[in-house]
Amino acid sequence: VVDLELMEQNLHLMARCFESRLAKLRPHFKTHQVIELARRQVKAGAIGITVARVHQAELLVKSGIRNILIASEIGSASMIERFVQLSRRAPVIITVDNRDVISSMARLAGDRAHDLNVVVDLDLRLRRCGVPPGEPALDLTKFVLSKGLNFRGLMGYAGHVHLPPGEEKDRAAIEPLRALAETKALIERAGIPVEIVSCGATGDHSITSTFAGVTENQAGSYLLMDAWYAPCAPEFKPALSLLTTVISKTDGDRIIVDGGVKATSGERGLPAVKGIPELRVRALNAEHTTIGIEESSNSILVGDQLELTVNFLDATISLHDRMYGVRRGKVEEILEIVR
Ligand SMILES: Cc1ncc(COP(=O)(O)O)c(C=O)c1O
Repeated sequence: VVDLELMEQNLHLMARCFESRLAKLRPHFKTHQVIELARRQVKAGAIGITVARVHQAELLVKSGIRNILIASEIGSASMIERFVQLSRRAPVIITVDNRDVISSMARLAGDRAHDLNVVVDLDLRLRRCGVPPGEPALDLTKFVLSKGLNFRGLMGYAGHVHLPPGEEKDRAAIEPLRALAETKALIERAGIPVEIVSCGATGDHSITSTFAGVTENQAGSYLLMDAWYAPCAPEFKPALSLLTTVISKTDGDRIIVDGGVKATSGERGLPAVKGIPELRVRALNAEHTTIGIEESSNSILVGDQLELTVNFLDATISLHDRMYGVRRGKVEEILEIVR
């Protein structure tokens, strides 16, 4: 269930933040996977959409959203082929960190290699994808150019900076930005223009979007926000919950609802029961959630509905086909989730 009022507040709050900044918002699709929500983000001022997968980019291009950054590497021959095909239809940009992939892209595109837009991905200590900043990034940039691809700039996702607001966060968020800026300067000193510097997420958006040289931010979670992330970006309100029905209440000290890890991710801890703090979730099973009650005289009955908070948006949403947009207790729209 999506609380539409909270979702809209989050949407406009983030859009307003970027109105007066040089850096622009290119929100990440993977945190909601709803084409209609991507449309609303673009309508609210986003310059395009960030995605994690080629097929998400294909779906968005089909729906008319063309300015897409695929912020994840690809490796297989079939994905490279799909990216090359998609690049003939829309100015999609992809991150690269591997020479073999770059060479395959160039080979497949032939005399249209320049249609392939790439940003070089930097590992800013997340230790996931990306080449180290500095010389290795310059070397890879030169390699991209030598293969005839269209080098657009740099990307660096510092997902390890997950802290509540404060000095520690400010310090931690600046360090990767310096590495990005130094690498940009190094590449420019070599005479290569760096048009795009894409970085940042929900939690560090105010720091990354005001840092000199950054051109865009990839925040995703802000729109629906989850309970695990909320302390790191308290200005955005959790708008998503899981609606469950009580299916068992015996004489014991518990009630059982009809959703477990097949309906909500348990990876980031147990959910809470929205609005009823005295009910404590004890366990998530595949199809059930066990909730402890203080006293069996509790007024909740089998058939009642309880909303559980969501701790991990991405992983929860991808378990479902649709979300129900609710305003003041009434379903107003159904939002189709694509995978
Ligand atoms: C590459 C990349 N960019 C941006 C984001 C969005 O971050 P957030 O959901 O914290 O706004 C993610 C999330 O994992 C990501 O992997």
